[in-house]
Amino acid sequence: MAMTRLRTERIVIIGAGLGAISAALALAPRPVLMIAPEPPGQGASSAWAQGGVAAAMAATDSAAAHAADTVAAGAGTVDAAIADMVTRAAREHIAELTDLGTPFDRDAQGGYVLSREAAHSAARVVRVKGDQAGRQIMDALIAALARTPSVQVLPGALLTGIEARDGRATGVVIEAAGGSAPVTIEAPAVLLAGGGSGGLWLHTTNPPRIRGQVIGAAARAGAVIADAEFVQFHPTAIASGEDPLPLATEALRGEGAWLVNDNGDRFMTAIHPDAELAPRDIVARAVFAERQAGRHPALDTRAALGASVVERFPAVAEACARAGIDPVQGTIPVAAAAHYHMGGIETDARGRSSLEGLWACGEAASTGLHGANRLASNGLLEALVFARRCAGDILAETPAPAHCPEVEIAFAPGGHAPAPEAVARLRRLMTDHVAVLRDRAGLRRALAGIATLEAEEPAPVFHAMTATATLIAASALSRTESRGGHCRTDHPEPDPAQARRSRLTLDDALSIRATCAATETA
Ligand code: SIN
Repeated sequence: MAMTRLRTERIVIIGAGLGAISAALALAPRPVLMIAPEPPGQGASSAWAQGGVAAAMAATDSAAAHAADTVAAGAGTVDAAIADMVTRAAREHIAELTDLGTPFDRDAQGGYVLSREAAHSAARVVRVKGDQAGRQIMDALIAALARTPSVQVLPGALLTGIEARDGRATGVVIEAAGGSAPVTIEAPAVLLAGGGSGGLWLHTTNPPRIRGQVIGAAARAGAVIADAEFVQFHPTAIASGEDPLPLATEALRGEGAWLVNDNGDRFMTAIHPDAELAPRDIVARAVFAERQAGRHPALDTRAALGASVVERFPAVAEACARAGIDPVQGTIPVAAAAHYHMGGIETDARGRSSLEGLWACGEAASTGLHGANRLASNGLLEALVFARRCAGDILAETPAPAHCPEVEIAFAPGGHAPAPEAVARLRRLMTDHVAVLRDRAGLRRALAGIATLEAEEPAPVFHAMTATATLIAASALSRTESRGGHCRTDHPEPDPAQARRSRLTLDDALSIRATCAATETA
């Protein structure tokens, strides 16, 4: 197949969500080529974020308290120095987003309205109109991007690989989103900010294309992946039958909404002293168990919010209306859904991956902030902080070019899109064996099944997905304990000896997989 090869002196950014755009702005006026399947802000998880940004804005709160909550939620594997650095930077980022025009909710005195979310010791989530934070922050950043001529945006293109030589990333391989012959773009620096892995499961709150491809492409080039087994399932995705499932933000529970089953039991009160505001993994497992038992868990916003839910949480109300659910008169059926991957491309405090020339931020990265269980609304904060750190480090490491024209790409016909059934079977395997509850037999079956699917479907982008699926399942098999979002029914307790982050290359994961493929029938 014809392969086009180009060279640019622009910094290549993969992704067009919060991390990608923030980094492109911070790199200006250094020329950037931003590559993503959709235009900026579309198809990005950050634009769908309903909760907001966690930041200790109240006079009675502190970055130290925010860092302590982050460490506690992460169940023994958070990097405390990273938590300290990120939480200290939060205020400055909120001030800058405000200056860029983000219309954060304000009280009568002009202070930020702060929401309480699970496992925070204080109301600390800065939000916009109930559930509009992600969208409104992205709109402010997209407007700034439009005023930044140093950024060339190339929508309609998918990452299918990273080129690396002698431990250094030298460029990216892309295809047209609708399929084309591959194009290799050599570049002095590559920043991966293209999202996590939620779409590897049948129930997810992530936008449709987010299926672990970016993490998988980095792993296939040799980058170390950290904490792959830690995936956060959100307890209150709206069980509307859509794919992906819409979110019913945790802020609703922060406002006093309850979880009930169809016997009318408020089941969280028997499980945790914080009831609906218990850590997210605990609530997700409870919702999952209710569904497994056929008891139809649902969110009841009626006593807490009444008819005001429609105006105060417009995205939730709109998703309910689409599914014929009336949250004012009745309850909202919910399911646990893959929401956020704590694991990803291992980075240091500057956002550097284990490959020279390759940086990562946002959900694609694993910086050590989230540990085994991300504290609510720390995701957008981490993307903001690390986007800027990556940009600063790239500028320091990469000499400014004398001349840097826009890149012209004409995609030629060709390529190989994955068969939809192969993607559906991969998602089924992950849902059946690598989801909220895991055990050795299921994880081994999943690994054997992933190997079979990979052998049958040659599309490079599918192999990026199966690389991430393999890393998640192999890491989950290796962690013989339960911790945060990783719950092993055959090892239900945490093991103090395993209270550390995991690190795996794809070769390591493939060796584990090979032992399963040899002995299991998928
Ligand atoms: C939510 O609004 O419930 C999600 C917030 C988050 O994932 O941080």
